[in-house]
Amino acid sequence: LLLTLFIFSCTSSQQKEETAIQPVEENTFGLVLPKHFPASRDLMKNNPVTRAGFELGRALFYDPLLSRDNTISCGSCHIQSSGFTHHGHDVSHGIDDQLGRRNTPAVQNILWQDSYFWDGGVLHIDLVPINAITNPVEMDESLSNVLDKLRAHPKYPSLFKKAFGSEQINSTRFLQALSQFMAMLISADSRYDKYLLGDKSVFSAQEVSGMQLFQQKCASCHAGVLLTDNRFRNNGITADFTNDKGRFEVSQLTPDIGKFRVPSLRNVAHTPPYMHAGQLTTLTAVLDHYEKGVKYSTALDSLLIKPDGSYGIDLTSDEKKDIISFLNTLSDETFIKNKDFSEDEAFKIFRK
Ligand code: HEC
Ligand code: HEC
Repeated sequence: LLLTLFIFSCTSSQQKEETAIQPVEENTFGLVLPKHFPASRDLMKNNPVTRAGFELGRALFYDPLLSRDNTISCGSCHIQSSGFTHHGHDVSHGIDDQLGRRNTPAVQNILWQDSYFWDGGVLHIDLVPINAITNPVEMDESLSNVLDKLRAHPKYPSLFKKAFGSEQINSTRFLQALSQFMAMLISADSRYDKYLLGDKSVFSAQEVSGMQLFQQKCASCHAGVLLTDNRFRNNGITADFTNDKGRFEVSQLTPDIGKFRVPSLRNVAHTPPYMHAGQLTTLTAVLDHYEKGVKYSTALDSLLIKPDGSYGIDLTSDEKKDIISFLNTLSDETFIKNKDFSEDEAFKIFRK
């Protein structure tokens, strides 16, 4: 009997091991693309999201081990409660307290972005982390060092095994795990989404008015459900491009000097400061900018040049308030508070 028990316990632990390699949730876990969104990019075709891969990616995203001195994680700059931006920092603030020159953008709905960064310099989400890790003012580490640290870690080899079938840790697996986590950061449950899905009762009269004004005055650039046309434009936030030439740095085309990606405005109430260098701290300041702060340069978008030759968008103070009330409906508390995306959850797998 004892022998049978012994054999049984061996096989059952072996089975457990196998279940871990092929996560049971594999078929039920994964990307759920919101019905009211347009088609996404097919970036995850060769990298299906599994629970084990997502959990590994989440641990990596929050692990300061990815930086040279083990102090800065992706999550240091991309904070969930701030829509995965860096609250209170106009430009990025990385290793050794060094400052970058651009504001940290939100990480959300990345499968619907044609490109990444303010200048669209990265085309595939798998390549974004390399930039952050090797950037001397962000994490200042090499990919090969990161992989060595992960290989020497007491827990990561087994987490890679769960996610990818063996303990091998290489750059492809590392980047794919991070992409699995980031791909899951889908924000599609704001009050605006509920309104779009047919529940008109979620909006007040002021929010409806704000939405209509937004359609007239803002949606030519902040277009569609994702509130961006994914193009590069200049909105007159600055006319001095010496420190940052924007899209030109990627395209090398002179007309692109000073153009930046039109950002999505989802969760915008959570993501101050605003603009590519964090120039504005409040939504009121943003609306005032469009009304009377637009600076002229040859890059300025023609949509911001009025028929009389002056610049900006006509807005009364009531219209500005209404638009701000609409922008507040873009906050998605389900996303901001989703425990699955949180730093608190990230390291629980080390204890499993
Ligand atoms: C020191 C702060 C900092 C750290 C650390 C950091 N980022 Fe970023 N992240 C930024 C900034 C700033 C940008 C915009 C860069 C640009 O436009 O040139 C950015 C851009 C991004 C984007 C593109 C967002 C968009 O809408 O274009 C993603 C995705 C991203 N980071 C993920 C990561 C991941 C994954 C890590 C960890 C490996 C990481 N970041 C670490 C500051 C940071
Ligand atoms: C001509 C195109 C265009 C129009 C029209 C436009 N925007 Fe923008 N918007 C942009 C661009 C481009 C940026 C990024 C500019 C930069 O940082 O250099 C931006 C940035 C923003 C940001 C900052 C978002 C962030 O994450 O930093 C907000 C908020 C915003 N716009 C709101 C509005 C509102 C509200 C309106 C209408 C009153 C409007 N925009 C009209 C192109 C436009």
